[in-house]
Amino acid sequence: MRQRLKEKLSTNVPSEMLRQIYNSFDIVGDIAIIKTLSLDNVNAEKVANQIMAIHKGVKTVFAQTSPVIGDYRVRTLSLLGGEDRTETRCKERGCVFSVDLAKCYFSPRLLFERSRLAGVVKKGEIVVNMFAGVGCFSIIIAKTACPTQVYSIDINPEAVKYMEENVKLNRVYGKVTPLLGDSKEIVAAKLRWKADRVLMPLPEKALEYLPDALSALKEGGGWIHFYAFQHAVGNEDPIGKTKQKVAAKLDSLSASYSFGVSRIVRSTGPNWYQTVLDIKVGPLPSKF
Ligand SMILES: C[S@@+](CC[C@H](N)C(=O)[O-])C[C@H]1O[C@@H](n2cnc3c(N)ncnc32)[C@H](O)[C@@H]1O
Repeated sequence: MRQRLKEKLSTNVPSEMLRQIYNSFDIVGDIAIIKTLSLDNVNAEKVANQIMAIHKGVKTVFAQTSPVIGDYRVRTLSLLGGEDRTETRCKERGCVFSVDLAKCYFSPRLLFERSRLAGVVKKGEIVVNMFAGVGCFSIIIAKTACPTQVYSIDINPEAVKYMEENVKLNRVYGKVTPLLGDSKEIVAAKLRWKADRVLMPLPEKALEYLPDALSALKEGGGWIHFYAFQHAVGNEDPIGKTKQKVAAKLDSLSASYSFGVSRIVRSTGPNWYQTVLDIKVGPLPSKF
């Protein structure tokens, strides 16, 4: 389908712009988002119409006009064609997610990670998701693994509103508990020593919040899934560099740990990578 669209667009879109579109094109439910910033109005309409002609399910096409920014990790969108709305529903791993793409974070590019984590959660576990968004990781885990409870925290009231709707849509009431607020404060107030596993899918804050993740784990320890953005050039290893940073922090907290699966999730720009480390934490010092 992408090849067909490429052929159609190549007749009226300059090749440099075509390359940009293809490096930055996502479909979420019935909305397509192009991350290029330089579409002029004439080309924009053509591009939008041709995307909708080829992808019959797409009813709306937006350009992303800012990076993902702020505490809520949202982006600004500018309508290129189709219906003027930013709310949609999409399916992933047998779950359905309702989301407003202008008010909440959502990335279809984390599909593999969400499935991977659902595959490592064991029956009966208690999971804390410190940066849950509209609940994708939490709900996929609740539906496909067999945890006792997933505490699912987000600081964005809109994200928590959609998370609550998604809990209903996927019938995981009682299994996924949406919690609105700063995960540092919520962990301190309600979730100390509760979790077998903590998810930290917010690379910008994961290092700062690592002590809070430790304090959410049961006294005997557990697993932390730590996401980072890592710069690496030439022969530098993005995973090795992330490990060094995390090891320095864990050593300063006197935690015992070992690294499990570590991988590059995706490339996020020239010489920049999103990485993930699965960290097995041993019994915790009493200060936690
Ligand atoms: C990169 S998104 C991850 C969303 C989700 N895990 C997903 O895969 O769709 C990070 C989320 O963390 C939330 N967030 C940012 N700071 C936070 C904090 N201090 N406490 C709780 N949530 C926070 C944002 O609102 C955003 O929804």
